[in-house]
Amino acid sequence: MFVNDCLNTNEKGHLTIGGCDTVELAKEYGTPLYVLDETTIRNTIRSYVSSFNKFYDGNGMPLYASKALSCKELCRIAKEENIGLDVVSGGEIYTALQAGFPMEKVHFHGNNKTEDEIRFALKSKVGKFVVDNLYELELLNKIAGEMNIKADISFRIKPGVDAHTHNFIRTGQIDSKFGFALETGEAFEAVKEALKLDNVCLKELHCHIGSQIFDIEPFVTAAEIMIDFMAKIKSELGAVISELNLGGGFGIMYTSDDEPVPYENYMDKVSVAVKAKCAEHGLPVPFIYIEPGRSVVGEAGITLYTVGGKKEIPNVRTYVSIDGGMTDNIRYALYQSAYTVVNASKADKPADEIVTIAGKCCESGDLVQEHTKVADVQVGDILAVLSTGAYNYSMASNYNRIPRPAIVMVKDGKSRVIVKRESYEDIVRNDV
Ligand code: LLP
Repeated sequence: MFVNDCLNTNEKGHLTIGGCDTVELAKEYGTPLYVLDETTIRNTIRSYVSSFNKFYDGNGMPLYASKALSCKELCRIAKEENIGLDVVSGGEIYTALQAGFPMEKVHFHGNNKTEDEIRFALKSKVGKFVVDNLYELELLNKIAGEMNIKADISFRIKPGVDAHTHNFIRTGQIDSKFGFALETGEAFEAVKEALKLDNVCLKELHCHIGSQIFDIEPFVTAAEIMIDFMAKIKSELGAVISELNLGGGFGIMYTSDDEPVPYENYMDKVSVAVKAKCAEHGLPVPFIYIEPGRSVVGEAGITLYTVGGKKEIPNVRTYVSIDGGMTDNIRYALYQSAYTVVNASKADKPADEIVTIAGKCCESGDLVQEHTKVADVQVGDILAVLSTGAYNYSMASNYNRIPRPAIVMVKDGKSRVIVKRESYEDIVRNDV
């Protein structure tokens, strides 16, 4: 009935997640509230791991792209499931450290790593630096030298593949702020440069073509282009690069219009292409990484809100006001992202009222969804927005000095707080 497997309806007609009644969760922890289903997260990670076993004989590893939702508990889960982590800032490194994450399994991304972040990452023994540009390469080589460390690096390459997704979340094409372009020769020159440097060791190539992608074809094309490039490096420079990171970007279901591809299908098709290309060039099959973020946590999460008011504007629309909005979910304001909204208090009733869900910020664009169908909304009802596990909490803000909601993890009918709700005290903590 629902787009996400962890959701159901109970005998009271309430929406449940991971066996917990969402109306009860709202009562116990307050709203707005992010809720995550642990079983869904772990099962998704396991499906990636088992695909690596099946299609690459275990010669690969998923890295959880923690930008989708970075907090200590998610790092702990990634650690327990024996996968790696993709981080993009000192803050994400710090979170991993605080969670006791094995730092050798951390890949450090970002198009403008600061000197401080590079030092911090080297000191923290981060496993790999995914180098974005020549300035960074030289800076890293210099700092690593000063610290007497040889840093393992990867290069972020723009394979020139155009993935069909929202403009702001497309990254593989030449006009992208991320990485080295292949077409212009920039990437090849950078590899030559890296091979000359003493304090870095080029172990891996990386590409990431975008996010929320449903087609398998662009992933296959990107993998083939990357292996062709590895072959060029071997034949022209004599260097064998033994690892290949194919990025993240796998689409999830936000509404019934979305049709995600099972990860196995993706892994199957890409692995066939990888092996064929390696055979063609006489290259050993590299160790493969992928970096799923959204697909690990997205469908596992929902956000609960309390309806505070309803404004019917005749012949225009009906606004339903909730106690959160763009501060906890900016994705509609930013990308016009589609979401499924469920009246969690009446989850067994037909969704036949068309409403616009408005947040509480001083901003007309603070909407979570427009003209969406929900069952008979009344003041006091609990609304659930589905598939909010990724890029919601991680993109949250304190606009209008609104505290960030708590995150509750549910599993088999039990719930626990994994991130506390911010207090007003937290809001002024850094004010002097
Ligand atoms: N690897 C790299 C290098 C990335 O840049 C990203 C996402 C990922 C992995 C993970 O991609 P995923 O599997 O989550 O699609 N804020 C946007 C999404 C931005 C994605 C940025 N990079 C949104 O809310 O849709």
